[in-house]
Amino acid sequence: MTELSHIHRFAPGNRREAAPLLLLHGTGGDENDLLPLGQAVAPGAPLLSVRGKVLEHGMPRFFRRLAEGVFDEEDVRRRADELADFVIEARQRYDLEAPIALGYSNGANIAAAMLLLRPEALAGAILLRAMVPLGAPPKAELAGRPVLIVSGQSDPIIPPSNSQRLATMLASAGADVQHRTLPVGHQLSQADLTLATQWLAAQRSPALQ
Ligand code: MLT
Repeated sequence: MTELSHIHRFAPGNRREAAPLLLLHGTGGDENDLLPLGQAVAPGAPLLSVRGKVLEHGMPRFFRRLAEGVFDEEDVRRRADELADFVIEARQRYDLEAPIALGYSNGANIAAAMLLLRPEALAGAILLRAMVPLGAPPKAELAGRPVLIVSGQSDPIIPPSNSQRLATMLASAGADVQHRTLPVGHQLSQADLTLATQWLAAQRSPALQ
């Protein structure tokens, strides 16, 4: 669909009471990529899957980068804001609660930026292979917002110290962070799916049912 501000797909699911997921792909992906993952981790939940607006050599992304792992932070801020506005539009259009972001790589990084810059946009987040998106983010108020970070021990893009710094940053803003590290690299594995499914199932707050 294109009428809202971002190209996206919406799959209503058959469990309207389940928390909606906001699916955010990695570099070079699109709005189709994470739908199967969303269906696997949250069967029947409403899924809102978005395409990033930035193109890097033709590959969609959610914000500009200057090099691998070096971000254009002005663009990170602008795009996180745009995406948070899109979430508000889409919630009205599809009659949705605030979603839990499920992001991979660049999609996880924009989700982390949204948590820091527009915390009201998300009910929580699953961040798969995320890194710190901003050097000096404003003080966010994440009051108990649940966040799962899943890192890869041998990820060639994200040093363990970086994902640990993200976990600390979100926790010190008040988020309820679980950080797990798998014996894998940057690619997703079956264990990511298992961790994400278990974490989602364990969310018991009324806002997340
Ligand atoms: C990013 O640019 O967000 C990270 O380097 C991950 C990636 O997309 O490769």
